[in-house]
Amino acid sequence: MKESLLRLKEEVLKELSKISDSNKLEEIRLKYLGKKGEITKILRSMGSLAPEERPVIGQIANEVREDIERAIFDLKKKIENKLKEEKIKREYIDITVPGRKRELGTKHPLTQVLDEIKDIFIGMGFKIAEGPEMELDYYNFEALNIPKNHPARDVQDTFYISENMLLRTHTSPVEVRTMEKSKPPIRIISPGRVYRSDEVDATHSPVFHQVEGLVVDKGISMADLKGILSTFAKRFFGEHTKTKFRPHHFPFTEPSAEMDVTCVACKGVGCRVCKGTGWIEILGAGMTHPKVLEYGGIDPEEYTGFAFGMGLDRITMLKYGIDDLRLLFENDIRFLKQF
Ligand code: DAH
Repeated sequence: MKESLLRLKEEVLKELSKISDSNKLEEIRLKYLGKKGEITKILRSMGSLAPEERPVIGQIANEVREDIERAIFDLKKKIENKLKEEKIKREYIDITVPGRKRELGTKHPLTQVLDEIKDIFIGMGFKIAEGPEMELDYYNFEALNIPKNHPARDVQDTFYISENMLLRTHTSPVEVRTMEKSKPPIRIISPGRVYRSDEVDATHSPVFHQVEGLVVDKGISMADLKGILSTFAKRFFGEHTKTKFRPHHFPFTEPSAEMDVTCVACKGVGCRVCKGTGWIEILGAGMTHPKVLEYGGIDPEEYTGFAFGMGLDRITMLKYGIDDLRLLFENDIRFLKQF
């Protein structure tokens, strides 16, 4: 009995030395130490031994069982440790590896300048209005007092879609659309894309951007026009900026004017940008023509208004000293990154 116990122990230790996974280990544990296991069987059969043999064999059997239990326990720990180490190795993160850099985009310079313009006018109580880029001849021309034979309607300048549908050539049609929809007091600006059949060069593009403005109320005069637009110029180009209004002609305003600001490049001294004059033209404006108010459903006897329109692309170029309009449309990251 003693022999077979010791042989059993040798056998178990030999088997254990061959395995390295925990399922197998459990199999072996059950095989020897389980309820129907070999050792258990032997311990149970002690009853058939002679009474004087029992304590001797019993002790050996217990020792063998303890040895086997310890061996299994040790191996179990060893397997667990090995698995843990493998897991740590697998999940290791090298925090010294340099991070992957993500390029951060910026707002397009036109968007930045438009945001600034919006802020200035919103600060003076204006709202933002919008109109369609595909426009009726009626709003683009007729209702702005541009009659049928007017040169501005020339097919060479205007993209016609049909007899009375076109791509708007300016943002002014939003003026009449706004008047139709609302009652004075009206104070809006309307930024947007406009289209003209121009060849692309450093200062021309068939698609460009304007910001329209319209104010209608009782008692609005040229003084309001000058005050608002001079304030805008100072806020946008800087407090030192002077403005100058020159008489001009637009069919939809009477009287009409163009506004110049002191050259942003030379501050009025005279340079290449302002062609030596010290001044730069930045917008057209005027008192809304009575006929245009009427087209908008507003009584010109009761109300007066002023309007203005500026080229967003041109103002952006002046602000940032960009000398080629095409740069604003090519979306070359190397250019856009600078703003
Ligand atoms: N619509 C004109 C253009 O595209 C710009 C303009 C001039 C708009 C005078 C106005 C204005 O509202 O009063 O050239």
